[in-house]
Amino acid sequence: MRIGILTGGGDVPGVNRCLKAFVERVALDGHEVIGIRRGWAGLVDYDLDDPEGSAERSLYALDVERVRTIDRSGGTVLHTSRVDPSRVEPFELPHFLAHRQLGDGPYDVTAHILTVVDGLQLDAIVAIGGHDTLVYALRLHHEGVPVIGIPKTMDNDVHGTDYCLGFSTAVTRSVEFIHQLRTSTGSHERIAVVELFGRHSGETSLVAAYLASADRALICEVPFDPERLAALLVEDRRRNPSRYSMVTISEGARMMGEEPPVVDPLAPSSGIGAATGAFITHLTGQDVIAQSLGHLMRSGRPDSLDLMAATNFAVMAADLTVDDERGRLVGLQSGTYGDMDLEVIDQGVKRVDVAALYDADAYRPKVRTVDGKPMFLY
Ligand code: F6P
Repeated sequence: MRIGILTGGGDVPGVNRCLKAFVERVALDGHEVIGIRRGWAGLVDYDLDDPEGSAERSLYALDVERVRTIDRSGGTVLHTSRVDPSRVEPFELPHFLAHRQLGDGPYDVTAHILTVVDGLQLDAIVAIGGHDTLVYALRLHHEGVPVIGIPKTMDNDVHGTDYCLGFSTAVTRSVEFIHQLRTSTGSHERIAVVELFGRHSGETSLVAAYLASADRALICEVPFDPERLAALLVEDRRRNPSRYSMVTISEGARMMGEEPPVVDPLAPSSGIGAATGAFITHLTGQDVIAQSLGHLMRSGRPDSLDLMAATNFAVMAADLTVDDERGRLVGLQSGTYGDMDLEVIDQGVKRVDVAALYDADAYRPKVRTVDGKPMFLY
């Protein structure tokens, strides 16, 4: 078989490990793996009339020799993008496709993608990505392309699986940084507002606060009252013998009465941490550190849980691909590895189970029982 593999959306630690494990597994049966650069953009940019230039721009041959050492670093050797071939913006459109499109865009270039898949003689495509990348994988599946999906996003919000590659390392990093910030926060007797990536799901904020024992956690799912928050944090600070307090906040969190955050995946984050910090200072006169952890949460090497998930997701995806399965998503359900219908992607959204895990009055995690719950509780 000739298998195309790509990584879309934000990079996370563990993807290179996943690529290596996939290549090693399918090489055992003599199959060839072609890396597609920059996610779906690699196929959008592939011009069948210019195979040499296109190969250089869009392809990256992956063999056992080439992947030997890639698992030692984070990120993705294939590079990544958020390009969605069903909604290509005018600035993303390659010149050789420009004359074929009607109107001002965005454009659906799926017909082109299908000719490229055909022209490259790909027998299957493995897509490693978050919701948006996998939604397009599902589209290709509906168009008849054999596709297997691997869930990857530090937000951990792909519907259907307990776990997405990158989440554990993002939480590990967040906990480390929260503890590091304690020295500066405590020495100056401040309040710290720590903003964490997580555009639609508050799981990173909730789990990081739970594991780092932050005083409060704000999540996307529950709009907060800044005055109430300020009063709680002032009280937390007063009770703390070291005279400081800390709150984590999802980048997608919002104050009561505010509009929900913009859904555009390319839009910059709202800066809610800085705005909340300024509000607290204004209300209380307290000195506030507003620190956004952002890309540091998903930079660098994977932790061992992400190495484990990356390896096992890759092995499952490789087995499905060589067995000629199509339209499947690998993942974890109730803590157990398995695969499911890729349609699951579109059948719901994965958000924090507020009733089970969050105290919406006290703005903090509330985990009463863990019996029967998966590793990360949801
Ligand atoms: O992949 C998810 C994510 O890490 C979000 O939590 C965050 O909003 C976004 O990516 C940031 O994306 P970028 O790296 O493109 O700025």
